[in-house]
Amino acid sequence: MSEKGEILVEVRDLCKNFGVTVALNHVNMEIKRGEIRGLIGENGSGKSTVTTIIAGIQQATSGEIIYKGKPWKPVTSLEAIHAGIGIIVQEMGTIPNITVAENMFLGDYDQFRAGPFINKGKMIAKANEALRNLGIDDIEAGRITGSYNMEQRKLIEIAKTMAHDPEMFVVDETTTALSEKGREILYRLMRKAADDNKAVVFISHDLDEIMEQCDTLTVLRDGDIIGSLEKEEYEPNRIKQMMIGRDVQGDYYRSDMDGYGEEVVLKAENLTTMTDLMCFDIELHKGEILGIGGLSECGMHTLGRALYGLEDILTGQVTLTKTNTAIKNPETAFQHGMGYVSKNRDQESLVMNGTIGVNIQSTGYKANRGLGIFISGKKEREYARLQVDSLAIKCNSIFQPVSAMSGGNKQKVVFGKWLAADADVLILDCPTRGVDIGVKASMYKLINDMKKNGKSVVLISEELPELCGMSDRLIIMKDGKISGEFYRQDGFDNTELIDCMI
Ligand SMILES: Nc1ncnc2c1ncn2[C@@H]1O[C@H](COP(=O)(O)OP(=O)(O)OP(=O)(O)O)[C@@H](O)[C@H]1O
Ligand SMILES: [Mg+2]
Repeated sequence: MSEKGEILVEVRDLCKNFGVTVALNHVNMEIKRGEIRGLIGENGSGKSTVTTIIAGIQQATSGEIIYKGKPWKPVTSLEAIHAGIGIIVQEMGTIPNITVAENMFLGDYDQFRAGPFINKGKMIAKANEALRNLGIDDIEAGRITGSYNMEQRKLIEIAKTMAHDPEMFVVDETTTALSEKGREILYRLMRKAADDNKAVVFISHDLDEIMEQCDTLTVLRDGDIIGSLEKEEYEPNRIKQMMIGRDVQGDYYRSDMDGYGEEVVLKAENLTTMTDLMCFDIELHKGEILGIGGLSECGMHTLGRALYGLEDILTGQVTLTKTNTAIKNPETAFQHGMGYVSKNRDQESLVMNGTIGVNIQSTGYKANRGLGIFISGKKEREYARLQVDSLAIKCNSIFQPVSAMSGGNKQKVVFGKWLAADADVLILDCPTRGVDIGVKASMYKLINDMKKNGKSVVLISEELPELCGMSDRLIIMKDGKISGEFYRQDGFDNTELIDCMI
């Protein structure tokens, strides 16, 4: 049985419509045993849609799926899990206010039943065992899931998926939430599954990562399968061409060497937070793009939050120098012309049940005043539409809820909301997370335009090329402190930067 190369899942003529949106347009695809299959395509091209249908989270409009030689039409994800198909979803896939163990065995408590009761101790023990098996030792299965951070919650989801020993599992844009260590855990699990003649579908916007991890690669564009490539056929420009449908120019970072002003617009002095930051000092100048890099747990995300008044500060202070305003909470920050894009998009940057319009307009109540104290609906709609157009946000109208958007398009809404606000100081934490390469290019251009217009940007990122490509000055952090500082005019040297990180 189960031989390498045998077709495990066959997708035939699959269509999915959401109202007038065609998310999948007669998709055909085979997933074979023994392979890690990459799925790549622009934001909204249908990657999550096709995989969530296979995994029982939603149903197709038409078409069929064959799994292990039989018709496959799961109506819940639990049905899929029981049949051997797991998925680590793109968004947060755990429920915050129940324990880790309860999340891991959600809907599956019967195996722990003793008479009318659930043996919680047994369930927790089994969950802990599953976590330890993967080398995750800092998560306790008996604790409430919401007490863990975004990365840990993703690891819980991974452990949950693996605890059911799937024949096939989908990894949807998961690695951007993980640190190096978390990624290594995941890659190892993927490779092991393929070696055991199981199958993995891996979705990512990181071309290098996809080419490295996947044995074969399928490209989607606007709900159509454009083609598949075997590892030996991988060639970045060819893949990009397939994704976008035209040649993309290689260079999408800024090329100028323009400096920045002397005026300090924002400074943090002696900043110490409950976790991560120790006596941290930093200055941001007018017209500067200040890059902050490091390994994911170096404290840079906390720094971003602290600069926007989102962290409890033990000592020290963040000040907007022009008005000498201390930033102690996000309200003050916003009122004084600051903006913040969180790495944790769904929880911290979006009103999920609001429309695209509501989300973008949320920064525009001053700009959109009509007569007197009233807000002009017409101005508000214009305000939102401008961003939808300039960022090519894929939607039918600004009245569509953001919860129904693809991951990358949600990210564009967050970015657009701050662009529209015309903030003077922007704190961007992984702003290009989950966005496709075309949109990345336009985001970089917009960030550079802001700089040219005298705005100041803190760009926190886990991607070195992005930091080197965009920063005027680049600070590398390690263990909550600055471990290196580099300047654009000197040229950035990758080895030197990495040395400061580890
Ligand atoms: N629940 C929904 N209601 C309406 N439209 C939807 C819904 N879910 C997805 N869509 C639309 O279907 C299309 C495909 O979305 P999908 O989430 O599959 O894209 P994706 O390739 O995963 O993109 P990303 O890289 O941004 O995650 C998009 O146009 C999206 O807006
Ligand atoms: Mg997606």
